[in-house]
Amino acid sequence: MKKLHNALLLKQITILKQIGYRYTDIKLSDLESEPIQLPNDIDSLKEIVNRCHLCQLSKTRQNIVFGEGDTQAKLMFIGEAPGEMEDRMGRVFIGRAGELLTKMIENVLELKREDVYIANILKCRPPNNRVPTPTEAISCRPYILKQISLIQPKIIVTLGATAYNYLNNDKTPISKIRGHIIKHPEYIILPTFHPSYLLRNPSAKRVVFEDLLKVKELLD
Ligand code: URA
Repeated sequence: MKKLHNALLLKQITILKQIGYRYTDIKLSDLESEPIQLPNDIDSLKEIVNRCHLCQLSKTRQNIVFGEGDTQAKLMFIGEAPGEMEDRMGRVFIGRAGELLTKMIENVLELKREDVYIANILKCRPPNNRVPTPTEAISCRPYILKQISLIQPKIIVTLGATAYNYLNNDKTPISKIRGHIIKHPEYIILPTFHPSYLLRNPSAKRVVFEDLLKVKELLD
C-alpha cells in the first residue's frame, strides 16, 4: 500500500510540475483527493505517457506502448500489458496473441484492425510478462481512462482478467463475467478471454467467437 501511496503522490507532483509549479506549499495530503489532470487530445496524452516514470516498469521498458487505431472508433479492445515484441517495437498486440486478435477482428467482426482502437491497461512491459501488480495497474489506469474518454467508444471489449478487473474495478473472475454485457452511462463493456489464453486453450475459441458475434450485433 505504501508503494501505491508514494506512486500516486509522485504522480500528483509530476502533474503540478507539468503545469508550471516550481514550488508548492500545498499539503501532500490535500493532493490525494485531487483528480488527475491529463490533456484533452490524444497526441499530447501520448507525449505525457512517453515520459511517464510513475512506476518501476519505466526502468525496464524499451518502449512505451500507448495504443493504436482509429481514434474515432466505436469499438475498443483493451488488453493487459505489452509483451516482448510490443516492448521492442512500441506497438500494441503485434506478437502471436496480436495475430490472433487481428484475425478475430477481420474474420468475425468483418472489420479492419485499423478501424478499431487497441490499447492495454499497462503501457509498459512487466519483466518476463508477469501479471501487473496493483501498484502498476492503478498508476497507469488514468491513462486508459483518458484514452476512453477521448475516443468515446460505444463498446469496449476487455481481453482477459487483468483488463476487466482494473477497468471496471471489479474482481469477478473472468470465467464468470465473460460474455456479459456491462452497461455504463457512456459505453458497454464486454469482457472476453485474452488471445494468449486462446493460444494455450484453443477449445475456448468457440465462446469468444460467440462473444464477438454479440459485439457485432451491438455495433450494427
Ligand atoms: N498481450 C497484451 O495484453 N497486450 C499486448 O499488447 C500484447 C500481448
